[in-house]
Amino acid sequence: MTNIAIFASGTGSNALKIIQHFEQHPQINVRLIVSNKAEAYVLTTAAKYDIPTLVLQRKNFYQSEQLLTDLQAHQIDFIVLAGFLWLIPAYLVKHFPKRMINIHPALLPKYGGKGMYGMHVHQAVYQAKEPETGITIHYVNEQYDEGNIIFQARCALTPQDTPPEIAKKIQQLEHQHFAKVIEDLLD
Ligand code: GAR
Repeated sequence: MTNIAIFASGTGSNALKIIQHFEQHPQINVRLIVSNKAEAYVLTTAAKYDIPTLVLQRKNFYQSEQLLTDLQAHQIDFIVLAGFLWLIPAYLVKHFPKRMINIHPALLPKYGGKGMYGMHVHQAVYQAKEPETGITIHYVNEQYDEGNIIFQARCALTPQDTPPEIAKKIQQLEHQHFAKVIEDLLD
């Protein structure tokens, strides 16, 4: 059995898709939901699906390695960042080499880096009048959005696509591909 921990800071619509995708899977299991926000909706979703949760405190996350013990207690093999906005510390990268991935709502290396998340990304894409955008799934290293790329999918944009419309197109791509890419990686 491969046990996944999903890290998410917000709504967790991608986390939900991944949970549902692996619900009946014989070898892959969403074992833990980790968030840095006690009020994140993803924690409500986790409760609905009876998945244990962990809420991170910033100080512990960056100044101790307690999280490794917690992940070990749940026998976590693989980490998925799905809208998790804190930079990942070195000890975690070191402990999960090629075993931690992130989804980014643009075609990296464009529109990545610190502060580039969610609507900020779509706003930047809109302002640059990009003819297309997309999603990137990549391994995680110690820099924001710089790990090796595993998968990209793209969609065309028209000048009429405002940032909320771009967000909708991106979410559709994410929901269509993310769980499947995880499954292929873990096969
Ligand atoms: C997703 O669009 C994801 O690509 C983005 O946050 C959203 C989370 O949505 N991540 C980043 O911007 C990371 N830089 P969700 O909570 O509905 O899954």
